[in-house]
Formats: sequence, C-alpha cells, structure tokens
Amino acid sequence: MSAQPDRSGIARFWGAEASRAVLSYPDENIVRFLAVRFPDRAANADLRAAELGCGNGRNLLLLSDYGFEPHGVDLSAEAVETARGVMEAAGRGAVFNTGAFQEALPEDMRFDLIVWDSPYLDTRAGMAASFARVFGLLAPGGQIWTRFRHPDSWFAELGETAADGSITLDERAKGYAGALYIFIDGDEAERLLEDTGLTVVNRERVELWKNREAERHVWNTFWAMRPA
Ligand SMILES: C[S@@+](CC[C@H](N)C(=O)[O-])C[C@H]1O[C@@H](n2cnc3c(N)ncnc32)[C@H](O)[C@@H]1O
Repeated sequence: MSAQPDRSGIARFWGAEASRAVLSYPDENIVRFLAVRFPDRAANADLRAAELGCGNGRNLLLLSDYGFEPHGVDLSAEAVETARGVMEAAGRGAVFNTGAFQEALPEDMRFDLIVWDSPYLDTRAGMAASFARVFGLLAPGGQIWTRFRHPDSWFAELGETAADGSITLDERAKGYAGALYIFIDGDEAERLLEDTGLTVVNRERVELWKNREAERHVWNTFWAMRPA
C-alpha cells in the first residue's frame, strides 16, 4: 500500500481555526446550489449527502435543513468535536468521520451529494488525486458543489512557492500564515473536473473585497455530476 501524505500540519492549522471562529451561517452559494439542484426536501431524506472538510459544521446544518442526514468528515478531531457540538445543540442528527476523507470514509460508501469547499488546501497532484477519490465516492448521477481559489486572491503570492505552484503562506498573508494553498484559475479547474470524469453543470466566479476593500478574495465555484 502506498504511503499516505502527511496532513498533520493542515489538521493543526484548521483545527485551531474551527475553534477560533465558530460560524453559524452556511455559505450562501451552497444555499443557491441546493435550492436549484435539490429543492425537494422530502425526497432528500432518501439521499446521502456529505461535506468533506466540514470544519465546525455550519454547512451540515444547511444540509440538515434541506432534509438530508448529513455526513461530516474532517481531518481535524478538534473541528469534528466542534461540529458535533453545533449539530447536537441544534437537535440535528449527523454522522461523523475523523481523518482525511480520502482514507477515513469506507471504500464502498457512495453519496448522492458531496459538498467540498476547499480542494485547494493541497498540492496540485494531491488535489487531482483527491478528485479521483471524490469521483469514486459519488453514486452514478451524484452531484458535487466545489470551489477553487483563484490567483487573483490577495494572498496568492505571499509565501514560499513549490515547483508545482502550491504555496506555503507566510506572515504577510496574516491569518492564513502557515497554511498550504494552491491557486488555479477557472479554466484549469474545469479541465481538472472534466479529466476526472465529472460533467460540469455550472461555473461561477465569486468575489469578495474584505477589510475596507483592501483584501480581494476570488473563487470559482462549480456544480458538477458523475454521469449516471
Ligand atoms: C477552509 S476550512 C472550511 C470548513 C467548512 N467547510 C466551512 O465552510 O466552514 C477547510 C476544512 O477542511 C479540512 N480538511 C482539509 N483537508 C482535509 C482532508 N483531506 N480530509 C478531510 N478534511 C480536510 C480542514 O481541517 C478544515 O476544517
């Protein structure tokens, strides 16, 4: 069996983040996606949905609102404990796995919906390999909402860049210092999804200028499907 990548630094960074900022509200783009693609909340009760990298669980609450019993998986045990507390406090059911989703989810598990907001916390090759695993986790006809960090983001060059373009951010990136990121544009992201075998249904560009418009955040968001 091949050695698994060392993700302990990612787990430490994001575990601390999940405890520092317990967000209550879901990502509005996921709300729009669900409203269009999964509007029938009663029917959703028969479907299986997961968030990969669920953090403190804010999007699990949304999946629960939409009728699913969500599965949450996170590399960080601290994040999973926070998410478990958030779901329990809201009186909602959820299934949790701790660890890298690539290995922590049972080999034969299949989902009708996967939400994955952060494939970019990786190397370029790691991200491609992870999408191959995501393809296997989707049931035929299953759908994914995902997004990529665009190089127009304000901190895209603030760190040490490796040969594959992934970057370990330094203190100039403020709260992101120490995190591993890869920034790719929408065309590269779309090729990656299609090369994985997914059919892209929708692609959007999202911009947010934070901190008195000094910090520009840019993402490409994708809605995609595993062919039935
Ligand atoms: C940017 S945070 C987003 C958290 C949450 N989805 C949200 O929107 O609030 C990314 C999360 O992904 C987790 N993560 C990173 N790589 C992972 C992996 N390979 N498997 C599972 N979780 C991972 C991190 O621990 C972190 O909690």
